[in-house]
Amino acid sequence: MADLPAVERTVSGLRERVRAWRAAGRTVGLAPTMGALHDGHMALVRAARAECDHVVVSIFVNPAQFGPREDFDSYPRQKARDLAMLREAGVEVAFMPDVAEVYPEGFATTVTVSGLTECLCGRDRPVHFQGVATVVTKLLLQCLPDAAFFGEKDFQQLQVIRRLARDLDIPVAIRGVETVREADDVALSSRNAYLTSAQRARAPAMIAALRHVAVRLGEGITAAEACAEGCRMLDEAGFDRIDYLEIREEDGLVLVDARPVPSRPARAFAAAFLGDTRLIDNWPV
Ligand code: PAF
Repeated sequence: MADLPAVERTVSGLRERVRAWRAAGRTVGLAPTMGALHDGHMALVRAARAECDHVVVSIFVNPAQFGPREDFDSYPRQKARDLAMLREAGVEVAFMPDVAEVYPEGFATTVTVSGLTECLCGRDRPVHFQGVATVVTKLLLQCLPDAAFFGEKDFQQLQVIRRLARDLDIPVAIRGVETVREADDVALSSRNAYLTSAQRARAPAMIAALRHVAVRLGEGITAAEACAEGCRMLDEAGFDRIDYLEIREEDGLVLVDARPVPSRPARAFAAAFLGDTRLIDNWPV
């Protein structure tokens, strides 16, 4: 136990371990992460442990999903702390490839999921989902787990991954895990560490605005009116720029605007800045 998790840096090493587990008739769960682990990631680990015999957590800060002016260089990296958390949780393998292992010289293939990726975060982060889809496809094919676990905080990402697994016939169950929140209901995110204490104090306005939208929609106003009220709340709370606050159906992320009550499961989605830090969250309506 003390020497867990084993750190695997190569795809061949990871495959060897997974092959041995499979040969013994055991199931495997994968929780892909970019490290800087917090309890939201540990919820993925707990879900994987509950469903699968063995758990692999990948830690890879994926350069392909960051735009040129985004925070790839400053993204928090805390390997020793991450490994201690995985040890505590009983994770057997941490897959921590370097960039050359994932994108070797001459790498020329990308995975694009159209339709789901042009709206919401895809509008303001044009390369982001192609980078996510490419690396997640690779991770799924490298590990070939029975199930892979992703947080609902990144709900658009979750839907993109569900779609690519289905479209590419990757034999894996994609599981969504409920968002873990702080005591004041702010969604856990590695990027919360960037907030000053004054900005952090304003952050709960995002989930408050999303819940307000859900309540107002239930009272019969249109989605567009409810979202306008939500935007005003974010504005008044001191958010610096709102990228979007929209209601979309969960399946296909189809925009709900004029209809007062969505006929299929839907969520309110928001992305907005506090200073240079972009926060996202979503809430069922
Ligand atoms: O959600 C994340 O942390 C990343 O987007 C993921 C899924 C690990 C791909 O790099």
